[in-house]
Formats: sequence, structure tokens, C-alpha cells
Amino acid sequence: MRTERTTKRVQRAGETVHTALPVPDEIVFLLCRSIRYYRVREERIMKGRSLLLLLVFFFMSLPLLGEDVVFSLPAPRIEGGPGVTEAMNARRSTRRFTDEGLGLEEVSLLLWASSGKTADAVTGATRTVPSAGGLYPVTVYLVARDVDALEQGVWRYDYRSHALTLNKKGDLSKPLSKAAGGQVYVRTAPACIVIAADPGRTARVYGTRGETRYVHMDAGHSAQNVYLAACSLLLGTVEVGAFIDERVKSVLGLEEDETPLLIMPVGHPLR
Ligand SMILES: Cc1cc2nc3c(=O)[nH]c(=O)nc-3n(C[C@H](O)[C@H](O)[C@H](O)COP(=O)(O)O)c2cc1C
Repeated sequence: MRTERTTKRVQRAGETVHTALPVPDEIVFLLCRSIRYYRVREERIMKGRSLLLLLVFFFMSLPLLGEDVVFSLPAPRIEGGPGVTEAMNARRSTRRFTDEGLGLEEVSLLLWASSGKTADAVTGATRTVPSAGGLYPVTVYLVARDVDALEQGVWRYDYRSHALTLNKKGDLSKPLSKAAGGQVYVRTAPACIVIAADPGRTARVYGTRGETRYVHMDAGHSAQNVYLAACSLLLGTVEVGAFIDERVKSVLGLEEDETPLLIMPVGHPLR
């Protein structure tokens, strides 16, 4: 389970990187316990000793405090570009990329297409992809190597705020490529979109059928949308399903209950 965030600051799209201070539940628990201890014992022991205990707990827990780096994406540019039928006709797998990096606008549209939020006057808020029971077990990650203004690292896409949260810092394209049996385009693409899912989320409602069928259908919808969005941006991508799950999981720093399902290197096609 992810830690609840006690504070959160908002930032403007693509301009600065803002942080939120997470306070893990364990630290709150320890502090509460030490305060209660202080209250119960205050009449019997020196107040100074309990206070000292409280301070020791606090300072011991400081290293556990981290920072959440959140990067707001520019709004996806939905209008323009080829129609969906043209994009379908142009879709093909691309494995050779130029040295050009990706722009924030491109990343914004690709991620929005993968699982972003939409709304209309009839149905209200929904997503760019369907999902069995509306459970949405899929989480999309961006492994950024060369993206405008975006620090290299693994970023988790939050569809609600159309923002990215840094999961892991650094250029992870090489270890990711190694985890995919050395498929070179995983490291030569300026970025990879990784589609991961928590199968348990769907299984809890639909049992084995949810886990063995629906989750993969959900992931497929996201992947096809990334292909089509890439076409509309004159970018190229390829679905990579051949990799060692545990290694990809560790490179990306995924949650225990998440399984990586697809890696999609994206870039400017070498023509
Ligand atoms: C589930 C799945 C897994 C795939 N895994 C890989 C892969 O690991 N490496 C790769 O180069 N291509 C992979 N592909 C891409 C296919 O090779 C490609 O879609 C197929 O050859 C048809 O070519 P096209 O996409 O250009 O029409 C995968 C495709 C799918 C649907």
C-alpha cells in the first residue's frame, strides 16, 4: 500500500518540480505511542526523560522521511493530428529511433492516451480506455532517458492530476534493456512507457477470470492507444512483452502487488 501524504503542494505544468512531504504510517504510529507513553507516565517519571524519548523517536524517524517529486504535465493536445482511421492505417512497430528526445507535449499525449481522464456531458468522468468493472488495475510508468525538462528516471503517471511522480532517479534504460533480454530499442528510445497492473484488484471482484483475462485485455487497450497516439504524433513505438518480470519490477521499483506487462519504447522513427 502506498503511504498517505500529509501535505501536497501544486505546481504549474512542466515548469518546476514540486515536492510533497510523505509521513509514513509507521512514523505517525511511533510518535503517537511515545506521546501516549508520556501522558501515562508523566506523574511517575521525570518529564524530561519522556520528552527525550519523544525527541529520540522523532529524530530516528527523520531518515525515513522522503520527498515526493511531482511533475505536472501540460494538458494533452487532443485536437488536430490524423483521424483515428488514418492512425490505425499508419500503425506499425518501430524499433529504430533517431537521437532526438521527446517533448513534454508528446509525453503528455502518450500518457493521456494510455489511461488518462476524459469527461463528457453524458457519461461524466471516465478514462481513455475501458476496464472490466471500471476497476482499472493498470498503472502506467514512464522511464525517461531523454525527455524535455524531465529528470531521468522512472515516473508513475497519475491520471487524476495528469502528473508524474518520481519513483526512481537516474538513467535506467540500460538495466531495463538487459531485463528485456538486451532488446536494444529499449535503451535507444528516448523513453519507454511501461504498462503494469495489479491483477489482485480485478481478481477480488471477478476471481480467476478477472486475473487471467480481464487484466490483460485492460493492458491491451492502453497499449493500442499508445500505438495510435504515437502515430498521431509521427512517433514510433513497439510493444515489448519479452522480459524477466522480477528484473523489470526491481529496475522500476514497482509495488509488490504490481506486475509489469508491457514495455513500449517510444521515439522518433529512423526513416
Ligand atoms: C503481446 C505482444 C508482445 C510483443 N513482444 C515483443 C517483443 O518482446 N519484442 C519485439 O521486438 N516485438 C514484440 N511485439 C511486437 C510484434 O512483434 C509486432 O507487433 C508484430 O511483429 C507485427 O508487426 P507490426 O506491429 O509492425 O504490425 C509484441 C507484440 C505483442 C502484441
